Amino acid sequence: MSSPEFCISIQHQNGELVIQHPLTFGEYTIGTATDNSIQIESEHVSRYHAKLSISEACLTFEDLGSSNGSLINGISVVQPTTINTGQTVQIGDLFLTVQINQKIISPLKLHNSDDMVGSGRYTLKQEIGRGGGGVVWLSHDEHLNQAVALKLLPVELENDPVALNDLVGEVQKARLLSHPNIIRIHDYIRVQDEIPFVSMEFVDGSDLGTLRNQQPNGLFTWERLEGLVSQMCNALEYAHQEQIIHRDLKPANMMITREGNLKLADFGIAARTSEKSPQANMEGDASGTMVYMSPQQMRGTMPAPTDDIYALGATLYDLLSTKPPFFEGDIYQQVQKNQAPSLSMRLQEFNITNKIPSHVESAIMKCLEKEPSDRPKNIKELSDLLHPGAEPPPPPISPPEHIPEMESVLAEPIETTQKFLEENIPTTVKSWWLIQTPQKRDIILTGIIICLLILAEFLFAKQPFNNPKFFLPW
Ligand SMILES: Nc1ncnc2c1ncn2[C@@H]1O[C@H](COP(=O)(O)OP(=O)(O)OP(=O)(O)O)[C@@H](O)[C@H]1O
Ligand SMILES: [Mg+2]
Repeated sequence: MSSPEFCISIQHQNGELVIQHPLTFGEYTIGTATDNSIQIESEHVSRYHAKLSISEACLTFEDLGSSNGSLINGISVVQPTTINTGQTVQIGDLFLTVQINQKIISPLKLHNSDDMVGSGRYTLKQEIGRGGGGVVWLSHDEHLNQAVALKLLPVELENDPVALNDLVGEVQKARLLSHPNIIRIHDYIRVQDEIPFVSMEFVDGSDLGTLRNQQPNGLFTWERLEGLVSQMCNALEYAHQEQIIHRDLKPANMMITREGNLKLADFGIAARTSEKSPQANMEGDASGTMVYMSPQQMRGTMPAPTDDIYALGATLYDLLSTKPPFFEGDIYQQVQKNQAPSLSMRLQEFNITNKIPSHVESAIMKCLEKEPSDRPKNIKELSDLLHPGAEPPPPPISPPEHIPEMESVLAEPIETTQKFLEENIPTTVKSWWLIQTPQKRDIILTGIIICLLILAEFLFAKQPFNNPKFFLPW
């Protein structure tokens, strides 16, 4: 196979391009020093800031102990981390993206924080992440005074009325879903001269892909996953009953809230938007959505619940063993024809220990069968295979991983807070006397004066108790 050509773009937040050039397999250091493979100028980037490794198997990003750090989806990169093509990594104040099979690309149109979209209804606050199907922003809904997540769709969609129509159909269906383990879709908004976007419930947490990268061996234990998988199954069982198929199940579309609960993102929508994205490449993209896709979905047959069952199996396989069943080379051919290695074989091959109960392993392998009829016939059946016995599966464990606070972003700018304080908070109270109400102060003052008068009487009267003019000392 000829070495594919990658393209790295480094941009400012406002989209201004800093550097862009083609790359092939190899290791590249990034920083301000001139002997870096990729040299950039920025006062927030360290001399030797990061290292990017591109191999046939994956793209790996490593922070080299930079002073301002690197972030993926808002989370600090503390160890070498696998990234996807099209995924953005923040290095200091700049944004790095690697794309595949594209020579020089036009940079993604970026927005700035505080930009307003949707005819001024939403203020963009912070970019949360990017995937094949757009850029997700934490935003403020000015009408409802609430935080929301906006997914700004790929610019290419604007010129494709058929795709836009399909997407509208998906949003119409997805917004009818109401389940605690599904991210609520609010609206699809398209106004003149703006990029169309989907508004949805904002989840202050992180996604399973990012959390997995923080684990010591880059994988989850079954104990940690079991409760979450039960919530995934509940959400999918409900959606399938409503005749809605997700079609893009993968770790990045599984959000975990701060309380440790799972919420599925992008019902029906990601599959529509990614198809039109410049990053989606059915023939060669081994790092995107394709590695979780069923053979039937790849061939473009009618969507079925068994597509989600396959994708769920591939996702669990990945989370428990660090890689999806097929992850390098010609993914399309392998997904169509090759039997996936068993989880135990894969762990052995990678020399990794992870104790996976045998019933869980066989349930996952059943999901990965090539023929839909050989997979669990519905989510209920899969759920029974994964959690046998009468006991309900345990609730998910609260995430021990670090999830960065988003509250700071939701809060108003510091200048606004200071101005409010200056205008509204009374001057600092220092003494006990000043915190009493005026009435209380009058009573206390009168009491003190009376006491002083009596004391004066005692001091000045010669025989206070038998003097008839006791109260007329002067
Ligand atoms: N509603 C949301 N609330 C908070 N964060 C979100 C929300 N939706 C997505 N994200 C975050 O934004 C990141 C990018 O999401 P996006 O859907 O654009 O990409 P993806 O899931 O990697 O790919 P795809 O486009 O195939 O779904 C996610 O990985 C997740 O961390
Ligand atoms: Mg997504």
